[in-house]
Amino acid sequence: MAKRHVLFVNLRRIQREGLESLLAARRLGYGVVLLGRSVPEFAKPLVDEFRQVDTYDREASLAAARDLAKSYDLAGVANFTEVDVQLVAAIAADLGLRGMSETAALRARNKYAMKEALRHLGGVLPRFARVTGLDELRKALDEVGLPAVVKPTGASGSKGIFELRGPADLEPAMERLAGIARPDFDPVFRQFGAEFIVEEFLEGDELSVEGFVSDGEVHVVTVTDKVTSVPYHLELSHKVPSALPSDDWAEITATTKDIVAGLGFDHCAFHLEAKWGEQGLRFIEIAARPAGDYIGSHLVPLATGVDYFENVIRVATGDPLRLEHDRQVNAGLRFVLAERAGRFEEVGGLQGICEQAGFDHVFYEVPAGTEVALPPENFGQQRVAAVVARHVTRAGLEALLDRVPAEAVARVTPAVADGE
Ligand SMILES: Nc1ncnc2c1ncn2[C@@H]1O[C@H](COP(=O)(O)OP(=O)(O)OP(=O)(O)O)[C@@H](O)[C@H]1O
Ligand SMILES: [Mg+2]
Repeated sequence: MAKRHVLFVNLRRIQREGLESLLAARRLGYGVVLLGRSVPEFAKPLVDEFRQVDTYDREASLAAARDLAKSYDLAGVANFTEVDVQLVAAIAADLGLRGMSETAALRARNKYAMKEALRHLGGVLPRFARVTGLDELRKALDEVGLPAVVKPTGASGSKGIFELRGPADLEPAMERLAGIARPDFDPVFRQFGAEFIVEEFLEGDELSVEGFVSDGEVHVVTVTDKVTSVPYHLELSHKVPSALPSDDWAEITATTKDIVAGLGFDHCAFHLEAKWGEQGLRFIEIAARPAGDYIGSHLVPLATGVDYFENVIRVATGDPLRLEHDRQVNAGLRFVLAERAGRFEEVGGLQGICEQAGFDHVFYEVPAGTEVALPPENFGQQRVAAVVARHVTRAGLEALLDRVPAEAVARVTPAVADGE
């Protein structure tokens, strides 16, 4: 029988994650056809055909997918990336493959449409409103109250998350957002543009829920504890599984099921972000794709034995999910951050870390020699490396991860104009 193929739409931006997604399809015996803006060198030996298309152009992308379907027996269209959730849903519908509805896909991509669809969940949601400018923001805050967070409705990667602590914060936040929410700052803003959501600031510990929904059945694989930076909420560390007690897990699982069902997600991986505090789970957002930051590709498999990316393929093709845990290990990562803008030279202090058993991986995210900038000028360059560790106990994992900020230093040569 001829080999079956899975259609991929773009690869995850982090190369190692893209590589793992392609290897997962290969392990399951599928060939890969890739539709996307470009194909990185490492991917070329792993894809049977690459079709170049501007994936922000829906019609051109649908036409290209239809054309590929003539030459390949497509078992499914897999979704690994945030910005392609709607396109993948449209392709699935068009080609008669498994996928989520386009309504659900819109809710996955637009933080306002998402919260609108979940109003019935009451206190699980923050108070929220849609705003497009300063006047609307002022008015909305009468209801939402301070402190609050204002952010673009269609962004990802923590691009433009602004905390509003007092009235003086409103104007600078909206000014900066006007500069950020533009296609020339990031093409992600081609879709929803200068539309923002303002939300009550949620207190509590941050967590994410990693799972799948297949044929309407919601499966929670694990819960991740996360720490984000102040004030721009860039991720600093992730730990799997969460250290919360089992009663809390039961509540988290139940609320996750309500949210996934309320949004009408199906046939996809999901990554739900929330705060956990005195009022239980407070919902931030949910993505219809696997978690990034090496959580799906590395941390979940290291901690549980569940091959998360293989299941992303399975949920797309209809092959039965394989979600049995075969181990109980704690896995986590800690990012190494640049402390100032300039030319990133290297990460010092890694040797001592790598010499110790327990550290699994070091990933460089920014090539040496890159000019890096810090938020709010740039939201993607401050993290220069990630260090992954595992240990049988949570305390042991934390001791390993604590060594990272203590010993690993990102060496950055400041630009001359800094006046230093
Ligand atoms: N209402 C809120 N209250 C408190 N913190 C918030 C709120 N909304 C967002 N944040 C913080 O900002 C982070 C990013 O927000 P959000 O997930 O909505 O944006 P994003 O662009 O999708 O980012 P990412 O891709 O990193 O998840 C959250 O993980 C959280 O730390
Ligand atoms: Mg998010």
